[in-house]
Amino acid sequence: MAPNSFILYTLLTFSLSFHAISAMDYNVINEAANTPGGIRFTNEIGIPYTKQIMGEINNFIWFNVFQQNNPSDQKPVDEVNVYIVEFDGAEAIEWGNNNINVSSIYLKGYEGDLKWQFTSLFYHEMTHVFQWDGEGHAPLMLVEGIADYTKLKAGYAQKGFAVPGQGDRWDQGYDFTARFLEYCDGINTGFVAKLNKKMRFDFDVKYFEELMGKPVDQLWKEYKAKYGQ
Ligand SMILES: *[C@@H]1O[C@H](CO)[C@@H](O)[C@H](O)[C@H]1NC(C)=O
Ligand SMILES: [Zn+2]
Repeated sequence: MAPNSFILYTLLTFSLSFHAISAMDYNVINEAANTPGGIRFTNEIGIPYTKQIMGEINNFIWFNVFQQNNPSDQKPVDEVNVYIVEFDGAEAIEWGNNNINVSSIYLKGYEGDLKWQFTSLFYHEMTHVFQWDGEGHAPLMLVEGIADYTKLKAGYAQKGFAVPGQGDRWDQGYDFTARFLEYCDGINTGFVAKLNKKMRFDFDVKYFEELMGKPVDQLWKEYKAKYGQ
């Protein structure tokens, strides 16, 4: 390689890899800035902090939980948009592939460390942006369980989160399913990453058996037995 083309090659490689790292945009819009919840958001959380944790959580989901070191394994997303808006009935919703709406009414009423709770909530909601759901075929409560698993793994399980062995069914959802996934991951390291990878285009309950060597109902029984329930 001639020196000039080496320099060109280096520059090109550098700009390509730089592009790969900086390609994701995090947008945060406080549409409720003049409401009590929106004011509390500004005072106790703020847009800079939200953008900062979005980057950290994004990396945690890709590289830690889903172990997607190869970008071709990652869900193609180039921006994540957050809206602080006035709506009732949920803490937050993830919608339209890469958007998260956070309720200013929820923020207003939360009692406790709002910044911590908001971070915990973001581990859950950001997981919805980046996880596979079998193109809609995965049980909704498994999808919610994986979102709560991220939170658990990050050390952001909130007060009242299920303890190991709690719950009635593997697909009960949220923290109950998260604890069961944690159990599976304890036996087969990287289980949640492998399960998510299988869920890219479809879902079949046999994925559990393929990864764990036992049907999910038997795994659930053994899980319950381990914790004396
Ligand atoms: C979320 O908020 C945005 C901005 O106000 C709005 O356009 C969108 O319809 C909301 N999405 C849902 C699902 O409520
Ligand atoms: Zn959810």
